[in-house]
Amino acid sequence: MTTRKRATSEAASTTAAAAAAAKPLTTDPPMAPSKAGQILKVSLIFFVPYLYLILSHYNIEPDLKRSILISAAVSSAGFFLTLAMIPVASRYVLRRNLFGYDINKKGTPQGSVKVPESLGIAVGIVFLVLAILFQYFNFTSDSIWLVEYNAALASICFMMLLGFVDDVLDVPWRVKLALPSIAALPLLMAYAGHTTIIIPKPLIPYVGLEILDLGWIYKLYMWLLAIFCTNSINIHAGLNGLEVGQTVVISSAILVHNVIQIGVSSDPEYKQAHAFSIYLVQPLLATSLALLSYNWYPSSVFVGDTYTYFAGMTMAVAGILGHFSETLLIFFLPQVLNFLLSLPQLSGYIPCPRHRLPRFDPQTGLLTGTNDGTLVNLFLRQFGRMSEKSLCILLLVFQAVCCCFCFMLRWLLTGWYK
Ligand code: UD1
Ligand code: MG
Repeated sequence: MTTRKRATSEAASTTAAAAAAAKPLTTDPPMAPSKAGQILKVSLIFFVPYLYLILSHYNIEPDLKRSILISAAVSSAGFFLTLAMIPVASRYVLRRNLFGYDINKKGTPQGSVKVPESLGIAVGIVFLVLAILFQYFNFTSDSIWLVEYNAALASICFMMLLGFVDDVLDVPWRVKLALPSIAALPLLMAYAGHTTIIIPKPLIPYVGLEILDLGWIYKLYMWLLAIFCTNSINIHAGLNGLEVGQTVVISSAILVHNVIQIGVSSDPEYKQAHAFSIYLVQPLLATSLALLSYNWYPSSVFVGDTYTYFAGMTMAVAGILGHFSETLLIFFLPQVLNFLLSLPQLSGYIPCPRHRLPRFDPQTGLLTGTNDGTLVNLFLRQFGRMSEKSLCILLLVFQAVCCCFCFMLRWLLTGWYK
């Protein structure tokens, strides 16, 4: 197939695995300093209200509050650890020829710099260490939560491994789409929670039930959700900072949602489910912020499929075990739109090139939308040509607006819907 051939040849010019034939570097290239200061300043917009909700606004039981704050402290340490690890890991991946070229800078001096690829591996390792160590502070050895927590970690770890395999081997597209279905298996097999759904109030007269047990269909839904979340983060990509930026925005929204639910509920099991999500998402957010400090425009590292798959799986697992998958899907609205726009190309109805990125004009430094079905191109076609940084900021603002819309929708529907 022409597309496949083109895909393979383009991949060979851009990804590290295919560049294995290149000579190993003898000197370490200089790396731009991190933008951690800037990133931390902007993230105060989230952290100040988030801490206010936990510490003052809601009356959260002392034990639960203690666990959340310990997880936050451990995650903060993870931020600095990841920040320190990325430059070291970058040198190692470059020595093994794991790099990519920045396509949206092609034709400028920056476009010929070898950018270290797959730095998601550093983030993922720190995340796993934090999440594993945290068990010591929260769970007793006979807790039923421990089984699901470790199954969740197994799925996340498996996904990271398959993402890294993809970065190194550059597997074909159709296979790539299937990788999350394998990684989700540990979670599906260990899941012992309920398989029931609460029927929305307006539908109860038609269904005749208030609670419906879906049995294996519920597990199928969990499986599909994990496949969707991982792939949808990976295909909403290609701009400096977009892969990590979207994860940071969604993770922040998940955390606020979890704290609100813990604050307003009186059901201990419901609170535990949301606390569970917090213990996974806090370390994800902290380590992602460290990665964003290097990945923000102009990127000095690329995150790789290791990161996109790992981040997607972590959020999916949090949504599944925290029992808020409908809310999660609304947080994922831009990803859902991007997926729908991508369907003709993903299904093979329209040829799908290896990279579906905008056209870059080295003279003006602006991007122009192409006909490839992505949200990135749609935004460019709607709002006109713009720089990569402005486009990324616009897409992240849109992501944040969708999250706010979800909170508003929940607030409006409370009491009427469920
Ligand atoms: C997915 C998208 C592809 C998009 C790519 C960008 C689909 C079906 N696939 O493929 O259209 O082009 O992500 O990540 O939608 N890169 C940049 N700038 C960035 C980030 C990445 O130029 O800010 C380039 C680099 O050359 C990097 C490469 O993209 O090496 C990584 O692409 P990869 O993650 O392997 O692409 P896919 O996930 O397969
Ligand atoms: Mg990718």
